[in-house]
Amino acid sequence: MARSGPSACWTLLLSLLVLIGCIVVPGSTVKHENFKTCAQSGFCKRNRALADNASAQGASWSSPYELDPATIHFKDGQLSGILIKITSTNVKVRLPLLVSFLESGAARLVVDEEKRMKGDIEVRHDSKANKKRYDETEKWVLVGGLEVSKSATLNAQTETGFTKVLYGPEDKYEAIIRHAPFEVEFQRDGQTHVQLNHQGLFNMEHWRPKVEGKEEAGEDESTWWEETFGGNTDSKPRGPESVGLDITFPGYNHVFGIPEHADSLSLKETRGGDGNHEDPYRLYNADVFEYELDSPMTLYGAIPLMQAHRKGSTVGVFWLNAAETWIDIVKKSASFNPLSMSANSKIDTQTHWFSESGLIDLFIFLGPTPQDISKTYGELTGYTTLPQQFAIAYHQCRWNYVTDEDVKEVDAKFDKYQIPFDVIWLDLEYTDDRKYFTWDPMTFPDPKGMQEQLAESERKLVVLIDPHIKNKKDYFVSQELNSKGLAVLNKDGEVYDGWCWPGSSNWVDCFNPAAHLWWSSLHKFDRFKGSLSNLFIWNDMNEPSVFNGPETTMPKDNLHFDNWEHRDVHNVNGMTLVNATYQAMLERKKGEVRRPFILTRSFYAGSQRMAAMWTGDNQATWDHLAMSLPMVLTNGVAGFPFAGADVGGFFHNPDKDLLTRWYQAGIWYPFFRAHAHIDTRRREPYLISEPHRTIISQAIRLRYQLLPAWYTAFHEASINGTPIVRPQYYAFPDDEQGFAIDDQLYLGETGLLAKPVVTENTITTDIYIADDEKYYDYFDFTVYQGAGKHHTVPAPEDKIPLLIQGGHIVPRRDRPRRSSALMRWDPYTFVVTLDKNGESEGTLYVDDGETFDYERGGYIHRRFQFRNSVLSSEELGTKGSKTAEYVKSMAGVTVERVVIIDPPQEWKDKSTVTIIEDGARAGSTTSLEYYEQTGGKASYAIVKNPNVGIGKTWRIEF
Ligand code: NOJ
Repeated sequence: MARSGPSACWTLLLSLLVLIGCIVVPGSTVKHENFKTCAQSGFCKRNRALADNASAQGASWSSPYELDPATIHFKDGQLSGILIKITSTNVKVRLPLLVSFLESGAARLVVDEEKRMKGDIEVRHDSKANKKRYDETEKWVLVGGLEVSKSATLNAQTETGFTKVLYGPEDKYEAIIRHAPFEVEFQRDGQTHVQLNHQGLFNMEHWRPKVEGKEEAGEDESTWWEETFGGNTDSKPRGPESVGLDITFPGYNHVFGIPEHADSLSLKETRGGDGNHEDPYRLYNADVFEYELDSPMTLYGAIPLMQAHRKGSTVGVFWLNAAETWIDIVKKSASFNPLSMSANSKIDTQTHWFSESGLIDLFIFLGPTPQDISKTYGELTGYTTLPQQFAIAYHQCRWNYVTDEDVKEVDAKFDKYQIPFDVIWLDLEYTDDRKYFTWDPMTFPDPKGMQEQLAESERKLVVLIDPHIKNKKDYFVSQELNSKGLAVLNKDGEVYDGWCWPGSSNWVDCFNPAAHLWWSSLHKFDRFKGSLSNLFIWNDMNEPSVFNGPETTMPKDNLHFDNWEHRDVHNVNGMTLVNATYQAMLERKKGEVRRPFILTRSFYAGSQRMAAMWTGDNQATWDHLAMSLPMVLTNGVAGFPFAGADVGGFFHNPDKDLLTRWYQAGIWYPFFRAHAHIDTRRREPYLISEPHRTIISQAIRLRYQLLPAWYTAFHEASINGTPIVRPQYYAFPDDEQGFAIDDQLYLGETGLLAKPVVTENTITTDIYIADDEKYYDYFDFTVYQGAGKHHTVPAPEDKIPLLIQGGHIVPRRDRPRRSSALMRWDPYTFVVTLDKNGESEGTLYVDDGETFDYERGGYIHRRFQFRNSVLSSEELGTKGSKTAEYVKSMAGVTVERVVIIDPPQEWKDKSTVTIIEDGARAGSTTSLEYYEQTGGKASYAIVKNPNVGIGKTWRIEF
């Protein structure tokens, strides 16, 4: 960067310090000027202009794309053909189309460009860039679910000009493909749910040669061949190549998903107007300093999965493209069409998706429930990792714990104040001069001793390893990166040099398979010296964040493995690092059997298989606390539920009330970690004065008490993709009043409904109840009942608004310990609430919380039911080679208490219950105690010490 004079240097230094967060200006907001608006992004502008043009022309607008009927083939569940576009200069562009009808009921539509498939195009300046359209996103993202349907058939009854395919369960789905103009309609049971190119915005900017001084008729070419933003110029050797498509959801008023944005769960319209956004939702992974709320601006991660929801139906689309992407959303009053919507639907949601390069690769899911979408999407991209047990307990982080002695002291202080925690984190400064895989010899002289002390209470350490490698000759990692040729290159094919925490840095190119091998080697215990087996990894800044790069990231014309431009792969880039780290963790030790734990800031579809995520650098304000809930919920809806936000807020100092409320909310994040910026005051829970310390400790203990329920919810997510914490619409998909609610949440299937307080000076809160079951306050059993309305619940500062719906059996463990691992052999308590029929149900999943033995049956999975006055436990799941061994190891783990809330009145006169274990009347009875309550609080009964085995089949007869 050519700058002269001291003032320019100072300005640069100051802005750099502000940018990287060394100087935090209180109350400052995001620097809009650092990030593009749609109008500043060439392809966004062009695609929006197309939409404006189409809408201005109204009915006379017709999409210029046609499917050539002579090219259509249907075989083995796949339809292929060639789409033709005649350009304004009379060029006939041929675009191969492939629609696959999958066994799962999903459909996949892929459009490529014939000329580029062969690679026979010219690129400018002898650029090294790969000439094809990038077609490898799927390599990183898809792991299954691609079996093509054997039963999909062409519908013989098709009018001329159309091709129709029947597919899905019992052939209930139909894809109606119109040839000219090209349009696809997806029906379920004769109703249209998803329409492609219905607005005629399909767009594939075809390859063309750059002809100096000549413009194509009516086209805005200003950003075709070069684009400048914020002083950075993006050379575009391949010219314009964006892809776009409109996707309409007729009769659907709500759309959810497409994280990551700091916005409401139910996505807003984006074409201006009252309460709407002006810009489309943007997906371009970026390190957005002091991000703003209620915004469609991009953030650190991207999952292009959208669910559209209405009463009785959920459908979805997944736009598999790793380039920069924008999504416009418009809601229109629907013209009534009996075929396309139910009688009471009034709104069509029209969405418009466009990406800068790559293919159109779209999956269409026809539901009909949100669970169906989670399941099918998970088959494709993988389900959430089943983490080690410690990973779902409490994490204590700050930037930074400054010495190994500091870490040990924090560890001891938690014990002194009897506050549980499982993991302590080391941010950037543990390293020697910001060189990863090293320790600062002055401040961390004895990393092993530190980890050994943590291990005494089975606690873990997580350290930060970022993808930027300090560019320094005597740093072994830098030497190896360069000598092995594993770094990302600039457009000229030289090692790319940018600015990040260590100063001048190079970036490991994890698109290169050889980089994975090398990355693995670096994590081995003999190379990452001082690391022990209780050390895990935090991959930060992997968007990648580049302080002096365009929009704080890499130039788009940088080159990755196989000469793919960074433009093509940007959004999946962060995930490739996590892939490499995951593999590295598995290979740290020969025969490693323990599950990796990784936290990642950047993510894409599929990251859920390997890591947890958090919402990045939030602020210690009530608004940020409130926003954390829709953000975490949205991630769950988008298949990456292992999500959390920095408890306490990253920037600034929360006051005690905010911090306390944040802990009470944070215990409902699947990933529960406190974190703070280097400039903030220390705020470990034991440092907070009373009564807040006790209130925070109680919140953390509640998380630990409910770990069995959490782990069970994680297990469900790991086998069927359901969110770990669920929004209202997901739990009650037919209750329209609840669809936009995003400030209360349900923990898995447990019936636990939490409404964290996110406003100051609050003493009550309103919880929305959808159905007419009774709901009980978790702590004192106050009864709330009444469907479709809000109920006022006391919420003074020492109270977490938490209800249990009637009809559930919630497993928990009541003995407070220092860490979750120390609870391993503790007995369980079951909390039982009865539904309207006097029945209830619940499940429990337990395994060793550490190894992969569960994949070979090393787990206990039980269903508990209360019916006809009997509480019973039955086995779920299938046995494997490790089942017997695991069940035996848990033989001593029993149920120590059953609490039945609101039991039948006649139990007042009962004093014992009978216990039958493994079919045998263990000869035992045990006592039943009935506790009468009045004043709106339900009575309850307690079975004391039934001592039935957690892994056994038993009955308790009341
Ligand atoms: C940015 C991360 O978002 C933040 O959590 C971390 O503390 C800093 N990087 C320093 O590593």
